[in-house]
Amino acid sequence: MPYFANTRLVAVDPALPDAAIIWQAADVLRAGGLVAFPTETVYGLGANATDAEAVSRIFSAKQRPASDPVIVHIADPEQLARVAARIPDLAHALAARFWPGALTLVLERGAAIPPNVSAGRATVAVRMPSHPIARALIQAADLPVAAPSANTFSRPSATSAQHVLEDLNGHVDIILDGGSTPIGVESTVLDLTGSTPVVLRPGGVSLEQLAQIIPGIRWQPRYLQTDEDAASPGQMIKHYSPRAPVRLFNGERSAVIEVMKQIARDEIASGRRVGMLLVEQDREAFEDQPLEVVSLGSQEQPEQISASLFAALRELDHRSVDVILARGIGREGLGAAIWDRLVRAAEGRVIEV
Ligand code: TXA
Ligand code: MG
Repeated sequence: MPYFANTRLVAVDPALPDAAIIWQAADVLRAGGLVAFPTETVYGLGANATDAEAVSRIFSAKQRPASDPVIVHIADPEQLARVAARIPDLAHALAARFWPGALTLVLERGAAIPPNVSAGRATVAVRMPSHPIARALIQAADLPVAAPSANTFSRPSATSAQHVLEDLNGHVDIILDGGSTPIGVESTVLDLTGSTPVVLRPGGVSLEQLAQIIPGIRWQPRYLQTDEDAASPGQMIKHYSPRAPVRLFNGERSAVIEVMKQIARDEIASGRRVGMLLVEQDREAFEDQPLEVVSLGSQEQPEQISASLFAALRELDHRSVDVILARGIGREGLGAAIWDRLVRAAEGRVIEV
């Protein structure tokens, strides 16, 4: 089978995935090719997780450094024993509560999973997605599916098939277009291989939800300039970045808005196009300035914000802005994941007001 000679974009109804299309995509996976598919978090770029050569194609397609491990997706909890070893009781308890869903568990790597999936580590990250297209595909392939987010490395994750095409046209065999992904930020990554569970990345399952099973669990933000820290891959600061630099402002709302208005004025005065990532409630404050505004939805509805965040960053790229200004909002629930993605989009440039 030719790999990526041309990328096929195929529409699939998430309510009732067409069996013939799913079967064709599963064939591509079995033959060592790449299939991009929607999950409830973001689109994934999938390959047979038991085939080292297929997995290496993911890294080249994304231009992802081989040091950053990828997540293995399964379709039912029984598959867990095929990909991981010495699974602790806590993993079973978390799986029972949160799978299928946006929680990834880092466990001891099973013998069926080649080392390049985990960038040579003895561990493996596993998740069972809930999206019907993802599940149908993994079931039809009857394989664990290695899949990072379907974006070029360090770009905002893809939350629509169009985003996947933007980044990976000609580098993937099939894109299953199931519309926009509902959660919009990636899964929560929880490392269970140490003496205590560690949140490596906040995501679609909130810390408050995790605390129902692991009382007191916290997230200790840790951002690295390079990926040299082998214990904590994927925590590099430059990630999810649009082309224009993002400046993230944090502090009391009205004070932050005043500072943002002044900076927007200065930027415009020096001839730059200014993009604004705003919640609905903040729009009015900026109406008197010629700005490229993209709304993230209501501040009271973090699930709207997470669903629109990556598309909003890409939209501002399309509008060719020179700089993007954003305001940090609450960190409860999904807010922790939203904050993390904004900090990384800003490459750590947080301006405390
Ligand atoms: O929601 C998601 O998790 C999406 C969808 C497609 O499932 N996938 C995703 O994959 O976001 P990716 O590769 O973009 O992010 C995976 C994260 C990275 O931060 C990576 O470093 C971490 O999980 N990770 C993967 N395997 C790991 C391992 N063995 N140990 C520690 N961290 C790992
Ligand atoms: Mg990613």
